[in-house]
Amino acid sequence: MKRIEPMKDTIELIKKRYSVRDFLPDPLPQEVIDDMIEAARLAPSAQNRQPWRYVIITEPEKIKELVKHTGLIGLSNYFIKDAPCLVIACAEAKKSVRLNQQDYYLVDVAISFHQMILAAWAHGVGSCWLAAFNEEKLAKYLNLPKSYRIVAMSPFGYPKDDKTLYSKALNVFSGSERRLRKEEIVVNSH
Ligand SMILES: Cc1cc2nc3c(=O)[nH]c(=O)nc-3n(C[C@H](O)[C@H](O)[C@H](O)COP(=O)(O)O)c2cc1C
Repeated sequence: MKRIEPMKDTIELIKKRYSVRDFLPDPLPQEVIDDMIEAARLAPSAQNRQPWRYVIITEPEKIKELVKHTGLIGLSNYFIKDAPCLVIACAEAKKSVRLNQQDYYLVDVAISFHQMILAAWAHGVGSCWLAAFNEEKLAKYLNLPKSYRIVAMSPFGYPKDDKTLYSKALNVFSGSERRLRKEEIVVNSH
């Protein structure tokens, strides 16, 4: 069997990624957005159901307006208003596979969305997974079909060097650089 060539760049890409919460206003080139969509599209999914659906907003005024309808928790995640691109990752829940009492659309969309995030990062475009929003409010504002669930959203944009006090504080608060040790995540089965 033919061996697949090692792709060390991917490991580097994963190691260097971090959540970006301060963005330059520069718009994303269409080729970058196209690569992001392609990476999301090619993701694996349970029974290849591909339940992911993406709302992509690139008009700054629309993003600023949407932020008022996300039901953000306090001012957290307010930083998305300054990003030049916002993606809302949805699931067509009717397409989901249910196994072991688990709905796999969450897994499928998470894989696809993270592929999008890594493809963006490969172009130097930062992002930040967000779960702190009010799904009901946002789905209504976006007029999404009733069968859609909003799994996550993320701003996308080129990182700004000078971080706001808020994003510095958030990094400390969420202990962003902390990771469990190898021994803590690889467990014995008996
Ligand atoms: C499912 C999920 C939800 C998250 N929700 C938020 C959020 O609402 N607001 C936020 O600022 N960061 C959010 N984050 C980002 C995490 O805080 C961040 O990934 C973690 O602290 C590790 O930091 P790093 O991404 O810089 O490595 C979320 C991450 C994930 C995967």
